[in-house]
Amino acid sequence: MRLQHRHFIIGITGGIAAYKTCELVRRLQDEGATVQVVMTEAGTRFVSALTFQALSGRPVYTDAWSSPAASGPANGMPHIDLTREADAILVAPASADFIAQTASGQTPTLLSTLCLARDIPLLIAPAMNRQMWQQPATQRNIEHLKKDGIDILGPGSGAQACGEIGDGRMREPEELLADLIARFGPDAGIPAARTAPVIRGVLQDLSVVITAGPTFEPIDPVRGITNRSSGKMGFAIAEAAALAGAQVTLIAGPVHLPTPLGVHRHDVTTAQEMHDAVMRCLDAQPADIFIGVAAVADWRPDKTRSGKMKKSEGQGLDEISWVENPDILASVARRSPAPLCVGFAAESGSISGLELLLPEKRVRKQVPLLVGNIGADTFGEDSNQIMLCDAHGTTLLPKASKFDLACQLISHIASQQQSHS
Ligand code: C5P
Repeated sequence: MRLQHRHFIIGITGGIAAYKTCELVRRLQDEGATVQVVMTEAGTRFVSALTFQALSGRPVYTDAWSSPAASGPANGMPHIDLTREADAILVAPASADFIAQTASGQTPTLLSTLCLARDIPLLIAPAMNRQMWQQPATQRNIEHLKKDGIDILGPGSGAQACGEIGDGRMREPEELLADLIARFGPDAGIPAARTAPVIRGVLQDLSVVITAGPTFEPIDPVRGITNRSSGKMGFAIAEAAALAGAQVTLIAGPVHLPTPLGVHRHDVTTAQEMHDAVMRCLDAQPADIFIGVAAVADWRPDKTRSGKMKKSEGQGLDEISWVENPDILASVARRSPAPLCVGFAAESGSISGLELLLPEKRVRKQVPLLVGNIGADTFGEDSNQIMLCDAHGTTLLPKASKFDLACQLISHIASQQQSHS
């Protein structure tokens, strides 16, 4: 999953190499990226939009005036909206005609308009007959594009669809995937630019405190109890909140995850430490929003033994007295003034069963927003399915990556925060 949280616009112009882009779209998703396909009319002559819709799981855009723009992005201006939520545009195959248009700033298609309206990197993978590639006009255009900072990937060399041999083949899907991983993978150090238009700036300058991961309650030097949690959902929410412009403090239990960009992180082990870290943080600076994603252990042993409990000496679990841990979410909700509090509920059963369970639990927990999921379906996974429950009822968000869901959740929290403040 080297392209997790990345979102690419894949542009397809008229060229037989379009069939190779099917494989590229599939491979990008295998690496965790999401893909929005935009085709020129000529591109659809080679591979149908339906094929790419099925492969990418999203409607394909072909021109600025027809669907799915109407039901799509926020302001119905796909040439602006589409690029605002993407990390980059890759045009593969890029025909000689598309290259000429882009070099001269012409915008006869939605794809070329997107390229002109973009504020993100543009990568172009040329694909054409060797004579077309060698023509001085094409070479001039390519030099022009390079000077404009556009990344030219390839072309490759070899047998061509027309039967000739030479330069002009589109790079193979495997090579293009490697190009994208080199530029946007974990080693590239580029923050995820995927601020869906709905979350960009929606929490600007607000302060958000998030708990994530499990807690670990030691019994003796080698044993303890914990809850199952990878921390991935909480970390994705922290990343999304930071992208939305918030100052984010993340109080994390024992997890093996990198700190999202722009997030202040405190590592803790036990529920009591997590509680104390949250309170210290709120004492130092009142927060606007508190999101309790952590799977906090409800009980801890009354004391941690200094030596290992010995089964051979007849010591057993019945010697341990259990003490209830503080409920961090409840403590935060009781503060005055209290931040907008969001709780999580990992339940068993089915996602549809949450519809009955969450409203009652939300009232009992006294939080304006409770997020439910089915624990067994989500532990350690990169995707999840969640149900939001607020005073208006429940909303099921379809299965998506944890980062996608985090963005949707942040958008929902932002709208609640406006009425809270
Ligand atoms: O009641 P339950 O444990 O299912 O509630 C889960 C919610 O409460 C989560 O938001 C979790 O982070 C929070 N919680 C807490 N402190 C506890 C137990 C749960 O903050 N001790």
